[in-house]
Order: sequence, then C-alpha cells, then structure tokens
Amino acid sequence: MNMLKGKRVLLGVTGGIAAYRAAELARMLTREGAEVRVAMTAAACEFVQPLTFQALCGHPVMLSLFDQQEESQIGHIAAARWPDCIVVAPATANFIGKAAGGIADDLLTTIVMASRKPVVLAPAMNWAMWQNEFVQANLARLTALERFQIVPPEEGEMACGETGKGRLATLDFIIDRVVYASREEKDLHDETVLITSGPTYEDIDPVRFVANRSSGKMGFALAREARARGGRVILIAGPNSLIPPCDVQVVPVRTAAQMLEAVRKHAPEANVIIKAAAVADFRPARTADRKIHKDEGDFSLPLVKTVDILSELGQSKRHNQFLVGFAAETHQVMTYGSQKLREKRLDLIVVNDVSEEGAGFEVDTNVVKVIDNAGHIEQWPMMPKAKVAVMLFDLIQKHRANQKGPDKGRDGHSVRPSHRPGGGRRRRSKRGGGGGGGGGGESRGGEGRANGGNPEGQPA
Ligand code: CTP
Repeated sequence: MNMLKGKRVLLGVTGGIAAYRAAELARMLTREGAEVRVAMTAAACEFVQPLTFQALCGHPVMLSLFDQQEESQIGHIAAARWPDCIVVAPATANFIGKAAGGIADDLLTTIVMASRKPVVLAPAMNWAMWQNEFVQANLARLTALERFQIVPPEEGEMACGETGKGRLATLDFIIDRVVYASREEKDLHDETVLITSGPTYEDIDPVRFVANRSSGKMGFALAREARARGGRVILIAGPNSLIPPCDVQVVPVRTAAQMLEAVRKHAPEANVIIKAAAVADFRPARTADRKIHKDEGDFSLPLVKTVDILSELGQSKRHNQFLVGFAAETHQVMTYGSQKLREKRLDLIVVNDVSEEGAGFEVDTNVVKVIDNAGHIEQWPMMPKAKVAVMLFDLIQKHRANQKGPDKGRDGHSVRPSHRPGGGRRRRSKRGGGGGGGGGGESRGGEGRANGGNPEGQPA
C-alpha cells in the first residue's frame, strides 16, 4: 500500500488481448498511491475502451499525436516529461520493435522516445512470437540500455488456446518493478539483505503438523522494500500463499531445521539480516513415517527444542553485519522484547503485541515498537506492513550510518537514538534485474501465481 505515493506513472497500453488486464494494473497503481495517466495505441482501443481508463484514473486518455485538442491540453513532449516512470503493459512485439528501432510513429512511441525516465515493459504475445529471433534481438537491444526494464511474460495457457511462454506477467511483479524504477534513491545497492519470513511446520506424521498463525506478510513486505532500495535480497520463506516479490531470491523451507540450514548457508554473505519468521520453538521428538491412527499411541506428543537460529546468528555475527529480530508477544511486551534483544545480541528488535487489534499475524497492518541496543524506543502507530518495512529500513540505515562513523566501531555500540524515521540515503539510480521480453498473446486463466521466487529475475 502506498509504495508509489507521490509518484507519477504513465501507463502505455498497446494492442493485445492482455490490454484488458491493463485496466486492473491502472487500478493497482492508483491504489499504491501513484498519479496515473494513460496513453493508448489505436490497436489497444480495439480491445478496451479508453473510457475504462479515464474512469479508473480520472484523466482523459492520451490517444493521438495529431489531435489538436489533445496536443493543446498536454502535448507529447510535456507528456514525456511528466512521469517518474513509464510502464507499457501489455507491450506487443510491434511496440518492442519500434522502441528498439527508434521508430516514433504514434503518440506512445513518441512519448517513450522523448522521455529520459525509466521505462518498464511487460511483454505479452503468442509463444511463437515471443521466441521470434527479431523480438528477442529487439529486447536484448532495449535491456542493454539503462533506462529499459523488462518484466518477462509467464508460461501458461493463452487466449489462442495454445500453451507456452507469453502471458502477461503477474501484475504484482509489474508493480514491484515500477516501484523499483521510480525510486531514485537506492541506499541498499551492492548490499545483501537476508530476510526470513512465515511460520515453520513441524511434522507429526505425513498428514499432521505443528505450526503457528504467521502468514509471512511482514517478511514479504520487508523483502519488497529491500529490493526497491536496490538490495540483493534473499528471502528464506516458511510455508505461505503469497506472491513473491519480483527480483528476490526466494528459498522455500518447511521446518525450523531447514530454515536453520538455509540461514547458515546464506548468512555469511549478508550485510543486513532480519529474522521476521515465527520459527517453531519445539518440534515432535519423532516424525512418524505413516499416518498415526486414533486408536494407536497414548495421545501424548513428546517435543524437543529447535535450535534458536537468531541466537546463533547473534553469536557469530561479523563486525559489519546488522542483525534485526522480531518478537511477537501477548504480555509484558517490552520486557520480553528487551530481554531477547540483549540475549540474542541484536542491533534492533521489532516488538509487537499480537493480541492488539491490527497487529501481528494474518493481517495487512502492524503496530510495533522498535528497541535498539542502547535502549532507545521507537513507537509507531498502526500502519500497513509495507509502511512498517519502509520505516524499519530507514531506521536500520540510520543506525548503520552511525556505526560507520569515524569513532564508532561496530562493536562499540555507540548508536544515537532515532526518533524520526528517514535516515540519510545514498542517492543512486540504477535499473533492476530481470531480462527477456515479448508482447501480444494472453491466457484465459486469471492472474498467474508464481510458486516461490520470481520467474527469471534473480537479484540483479
Ligand atoms: N527465533 C529463531 N529461532 C527460533 C526461535 C525464534 O530464530 N528457534 C527468532 C525469531 O525469528 C524472532 C526472534 O527469535 O526474530 C524472537 O522469536 P520469539 O518466538 O518471539 O521468541 P523466542 O526467542 O522463541 O522466545 P519465546 O518463544 O520464549 O518467547
């Protein structure tokens, strides 16, 4: 929510059957806080009425290069200068060819050519067109330029009845890439951020397990924000039903033991580690390899403790590693939070009272307090988890900047209090990862759902 607040996004719609999904994309962009203007090609208008976009965005749709009235309202040069980011979805093979070849023979191609702002292209087309050598060469030509970013199409059933790669990408991936492209400041560029999320499932037998109510939403919001800031993000995710952030390396795990193994593997390369996962503290002493029937056994379930992953990280953390824990509590919230911060040797702990309305598991909002290792407390009101992620990274970066100060060794812990979010960010503009391209065909199915990890975009 509000990941695009204050941003101006020009949505270009070209003529493919996936044009109808651009209407939903316009709505999602608006919901993220962006001001959206739409430019459609003549072919796009064969698929969707401009009025649809006008109703969704509240502005007349730009259609023609040669319409005197339109040009007098907002000329094509003004339209090219207006946005922070241009997104073309769907982008057909024809449009991609024109953009790559420097052809500007209609309003949209002219705007793209006249603009210096990032352009996100979400191709959609029939699988054979997608594989066409010219289409691929055109895409390669565009991706070689800093300004163009491609959100590759997905595999699936197409409107023409065939199956293959060419369906418009999941709209959430397109939004993620627009967020990334419109952020000018990339203060996590060249940094590796390791995040854990969700619950762990500890199996009793092949059909039953012990778990908790964590949804993984907070960890996913953190991963999305870290990526938007230019970080290389590794998300070790317990079982969940969420759409993974674009360009994030997702490592799916099920049990606490698997999470431990994945964390041990990836932690050495991480500059920032955030353990948002609700790891099971106990697991069944043994997992039956076949279903336990109700007339078997004595109805007791012997449990053994799992390894405390965060404590292990605290013991072994490098001098330039920043470690953040989470604590979900129902009572004596600050006492337990402070204790965990100290005992696990953390830099920050995010504490929430999960019994409070709008906080904790399953919901899209959170109410948190953040304690640092000098005992300073930040208390934030109820807000969307995406906003908590923004403020938490502002705080993390502020602490890290202080730690890097001339007289402040990492182990000295001489961190200044921070009662105002919005730490000094390094300004950097660089395009996101991901490659490939294509435009036109479309599946009859609804929105695609990626199962763990982005389709082609490993972290850039
Ligand atoms: N944690 C972990 N490994 C575990 C248990 C917890 O890494 N086996 C981490 C969590 O990811 C979280 C922090 O420790 O960042 C605090 O987790 P929480 O469940 O609140 O507390 P515990 O330390 O498990 O203590 P308790 O259950 O007694 O409250």
